[in-house]
Amino acid sequence: MRVEVETGSPESVEADVLAAPLIASEGLNGRVAALNSGLGGLLSRLAEQGEITGELKTAPLVHVDGELKAARLALAGVGTREAFDADALRTAAGTLSHEARGFARSIFWLLDESLPLSPAEQARAIVDGTLLGSYDPGRWKSSAEAPRLERLVIVSGDSAVAEAARRAGIVAEWTNRARDLANAPPNELTPEGLADRAAEIATESSPQLSVEAPGLEEIRELGMGAFAAVAQGSHNPARLIVMRYDPPRPARADVVLGLVGKAVTFDTGGISIKKPTYMEDMKGDMAGGGAVIAALGALAELECPLPVVGVVGATENAVGGGAYRPGDILTAMNGKTIEVINTDAEGRLVLADVLPYARQLGATHLVDFATLTGAMERALGDFYAGVFANDADWRTLVVEAGEASGDHAWPWPLHSRYRRYVDSDYADLKNSNVRSQGVPVLAAEFLREFASEGPWAHVDMAGTGFFTWPRHDYLWQRGGTGYGVRLICELADRLAAAA
Ligand code: BES
Ligand code: MN
Ligand code: ZN
Repeated sequence: MRVEVETGSPESVEADVLAAPLIASEGLNGRVAALNSGLGGLLSRLAEQGEITGELKTAPLVHVDGELKAARLALAGVGTREAFDADALRTAAGTLSHEARGFARSIFWLLDESLPLSPAEQARAIVDGTLLGSYDPGRWKSSAEAPRLERLVIVSGDSAVAEAARRAGIVAEWTNRARDLANAPPNELTPEGLADRAAEIATESSPQLSVEAPGLEEIRELGMGAFAAVAQGSHNPARLIVMRYDPPRPARADVVLGLVGKAVTFDTGGISIKKPTYMEDMKGDMAGGGAVIAALGALAELECPLPVVGVVGATENAVGGGAYRPGDILTAMNGKTIEVINTDAEGRLVLADVLPYARQLGATHLVDFATLTGAMERALGDFYAGVFANDADWRTLVVEAGEASGDHAWPWPLHSRYRRYVDSDYADLKNSNVRSQGVPVLAAEFLREFASEGPWAHVDMAGTGFFTWPRHDYLWQRGGTGYGVRLICELADRLAAAA
C-alpha cells in the first residue's frame, strides 16, 4: 500500500473514502462541522438518529456523491475523550480499512487538532491501524485475492506528519511481513524456509544487510550443545540465522544493537508432548525470530544509524527416535551444563546458545524476543508482553519504546532469590521445575545465566505474538501479530538518539 501525505481541502480530495476521527458524545466539531454545513446538516441529522456516534469500532459511511469530490465520507469513532489514546485511533483506522477493504482503492484521512495526540502521532496511528487492520491472514486460500486498497493519504501540509507517516508505513509493512512468517504453515516455513526468507529480505532491502545461516554441523562446532539438542529430534535441519546491518555512518561508535529471536518453527513439546487442542498454533512459536528478521529489513529500509546484529535460532521441537529426553544433560556454548526436566521448555535452551553468540558478534545492547511461556499469556493476556532485564535503564527504554510504538510491554522482576527455581542436583542449571511457581520469571532467571556482561532484556511475547483468539481492535485477525517489529524500530531510534 502506498502511504502519502498531501495538502488539500477536505472538499476537493478525490478519495474513495474521506475519513475523519470522531470523539463520542462531543458532537461534530472542527473540519467535520464545516463538512456538515457544506452538506446541509446531513451529518448532524445522522448523528441525531444515532447512526453516527463516535463509538469505538464504528465507522459509518455516508454517500455524498456530487457534494464533495470524495465518493464517501466516513466518521470513524475513537470513543470518549477520557479513554482516548493512540490505540483508539489505530482501532478507528483499522475498523475503517477492514470495512472498506472490499471496495475502496484509496482512503484519505483528516487529522483532528482537538485530539490529545500530536498530528505526527495521529498520522502514525492511522498508518498503523490501516495497514495492520487491512491485513488478511487467509493467504493460503485458493480464492485469495490481491487487496483492493492501494493508497492511504493523510491530508496535511506538515513536514513532521509526512516523515512520521513515511516511517510508520515502512514499519507497518514489515510488521505484516513478520505476520506472514508467523502464519506460514510449518510444512512450508521450516528452519531452512525461514533462512531462505531472511536471505530474500537481505537481497531485496539493502546492500548494508547481510545474512548467513549455518546448519546443525556448525551449530555443534560452535559448542551450542543446548540448541543442538532441541534440533536433533527433527528431520528438518536447524539453522542459526545471523543478519548484520552496518550503516555507512553510525551515529554512535559505542553501540551495537543485538536482537535475538526464538524461532521454533513448530513446537510439539518433544517427548514432553503437548495436548492436541490448538497445537496447530505452535507454528507461531517462531514469532520472536520472525519479528527480528522482519525488523532488520525495516531498520535497513529506514537507514537506521546504528549497527545491528540479529541472531535467530531456528529449529523444530519434534518427537522421534532421535529426540532429546528429560534427564539429558547438555553443555551450552558458554560452558554451563543444563539438566533437561521438560523437553517442552525448549525455547530457553535455544536462547541459551544464541544469546552468548550475539555477544560474540559484538552486541553491546541485547534484547531477545520469544514466545517463551504459556504462563505469560495467562498472566498478561494478548495486550502486554512481559519484559525482564539485568539493567533497569535498558528495561525502561524497552518498555517506553513498546508503549510509544503500540507493541505494549510491561516490566517484570528478576531476583537472585528465584535462582533456586533452576538449581539442579546434577548440573549447573535445570530448564524447568515441576513446581509451577513463577514460570515466566524462572525462564528469565534461566536466560540471565547466558546473557553475559552488558545490558540485556528479555521480552516474553507468548500472549502478544500470535493470537489464538483475535483481539477485536485493529488486530482483529487470528494468528501472527508482528509483535516486536514496531518496538524494535522505536527502540533503535531511541538508542541512537541517547547520548
Ligand atoms: N512455546 C511454548 C510457550 C507458549 C505457549 C507460547 C502458549 C505461546 C502460547 C514454550 O516452548 C513452552 O512450551 N513452554 C512451556 C514451559 C513449561 C514446560 C515449563 C509452557 O509454557 O507450558
Ligand atoms: Mn515448548
Ligand atoms: Zn516453544
